[in-house]
Amino acid sequence: MNFKEQYNLYLGRINNALQGYASIKDTPEKTIYKAMNYSLTAGGKRLRPVLALAVCDMLGRGIEDVIPYACAVEMIHTYSLIHDDLPAMDNDDYRRGRLTNHKVFGEAMAILAGDALLNFSFEIMVEAALRSTGNLEANLTAMRIISNASGASGMIGGQVVDLESEGKVIHGDLLKYMHQCKTGALIKAPILAAAAICEAKKEEMDLLERYACGIGLAFQIKDDILDVEGDSEKLGKTVGSDEANGKSTFVALYGLEQSKKMLEEVTKEAVGAVGMLGDRADFLVELAYYLVNRDT
Ligand code: IPE
Ligand code: IPE
Ligand code: MG
Ligand code: MG
Ligand code: MG
Repeated sequence: MNFKEQYNLYLGRINNALQGYASIKDTPEKTIYKAMNYSLTAGGKRLRPVLALAVCDMLGRGIEDVIPYACAVEMIHTYSLIHDDLPAMDNDDYRRGRLTNHKVFGEAMAILAGDALLNFSFEIMVEAALRSTGNLEANLTAMRIISNASGASGMIGGQVVDLESEGKVIHGDLLKYMHQCKTGALIKAPILAAAAICEAKKEEMDLLERYACGIGLAFQIKDDILDVEGDSEKLGKTVGSDEANGKSTFVALYGLEQSKKMLEEVTKEAVGAVGMLGDRADFLVELAYYLVNRDT
């Protein structure tokens, strides 16, 4: 099976599982289910859950036990996008090829849909831990990794730095810190959570962590580049949003050429680390290069 086929296989598993969670209850609050599902089932690359499944495969374990955690991370990511697009944050109108959540359901419902997805993600993880016939401590460790990555010292912290850096020229170290938090944290979390559930050895964990840090940073550098030279049709979101908001990005600080060089360097480091796990890491290696070359 080639890389694309393998990716699509994981994608299918994830989309099926997410579809299973996306029911609309015919109760007075049914608007919230519609708003949650609107963004959750809009597509997207599903990179974070794919990473979780790929790590399991690489470690020679079944992917079943990790699917709830993979879906939970995708829900948290989706909530972060709904809130990121709000007028109070990036004020964007398109996401995943659709009008943004608040454009369809209004700001109040979009805030609630994000909150509800976050809560639902934890419900799913707790359920998985309770039902697991495997190692309870490993399940709880996965949950701790995901909750920490989503919070004030992870994604939310990164968003804080992002907002407070608007209209400023910030130091390169702070820019890197911001990217590692706002985006890197939720890319690293599914990798390390899957590794915990699959009871990875310490040296496997360390190499996966180095890989995760590298692709997490690379992913946001590429996102910054695409906001300048990407195609909004393909991306499913408006380009030029960063400049319009006076965002501190890699492109704003270093320019396109230098940003592309840094993207390649960081990716090389990530590939070097995971490559030490041998042939079984081929998918993760190819994934890192796919992220450099992506146009969506
Ligand atoms: C977009 O994430 C927001 C960032 C963290 C850069 P993705 O590019 O993974 O968005 P989807 O999930 O594919 O829509
Ligand atoms: C988003 O970064 C990071 C999140 C935590 C959602 P961006 O604001 O650059 O993401 P896009 O470009 O809107 O997808
Ligand atoms: Mg943003
Ligand atoms: Mg944004
Ligand atoms: Mg962006």
